[in-house]
Amino acid sequence: MAGQAQMRLYVNIDHVATVREARRTDEPDPVEAAMACERAGADGITAHLREDRRHINDEDVRRLAAGVTTVLNLELATAEDVLSVVTGLAPHQATLVPERREEITTEGGLSLGAPGTLAEPRLVEAIDRMKAAGIRVSLFIDPDHVTIDRAADLSVPAVELHTGEYANTYRDSDVALERLREAARHARVSGLAVHAGHGLTYRNVTPVAAIPEIEELNIGHSIVSHSIMVGMEAAVREMRALIDAAR
Ligand code: PXP
Repeated sequence: MAGQAQMRLYVNIDHVATVREARRTDEPDPVEAAMACERAGADGITAHLREDRRHINDEDVRRLAAGVTTVLNLELATAEDVLSVVTGLAPHQATLVPERREEITTEGGLSLGAPGTLAEPRLVEAIDRMKAAGIRVSLFIDPDHVTIDRAADLSVPAVELHTGEYANTYRDSDVALERLREAARHARVSGLAVHAGHGLTYRNVTPVAAIPEIEELNIGHSIVSHSIMVGMEAAVREMRALIDAAR
């Protein structure tokens, strides 16, 4: 497999802040964790500014925007206050995700509506405002052709394919992996840059990292979990090595 273009690894550091918020104190610091990820070869840092600020908060994203030396990818829903923080900071990239307060983590991809219907005005407005701020916009979507076509119609440069179904089923079946492969091909021929993420771990990342059309992986929980055992730099280096070996 070696010889394909290198895959970008963006490390999502939300759950460093989750541990901090368990005590509402000032440690561990997600910005310090981001620096360690960069030292270990991360190509970018991802953080999700949720509407309820349950982990990453406004001050974190301001400090990340100032401190990250690679690039910052902020995940957000279309809530007005979050959108204004993100457009004000103008990170390299922003990934629009659906968000429900009751969910433990992002559950599905964005709903982009049926073919032939108008896209949700809030979504279109959010995309336009971020583009106007010079932000590269990506949409987090399920790996299906109809949704990919809708994303292409919205003239965004990139989509992030939801790998959650793959992560939940890969032990028993290759169906979700094949769906990801086909979706990645379809997105690429539709002119979209292809990212992927959610639920990827040291055990399941290799087949996804080997999909040639995918150029960026966003991985959080598994790396932060492993970092508790081995330290953040070692955890990122191990993931980096697995991804590089798959290309
Ligand atoms: N990509 C998106 C759009 C997400 O919302 C998340 C979770 O915040 C991730 C990637 C990372 O998922 P995980 O923490 O399961 O690696």
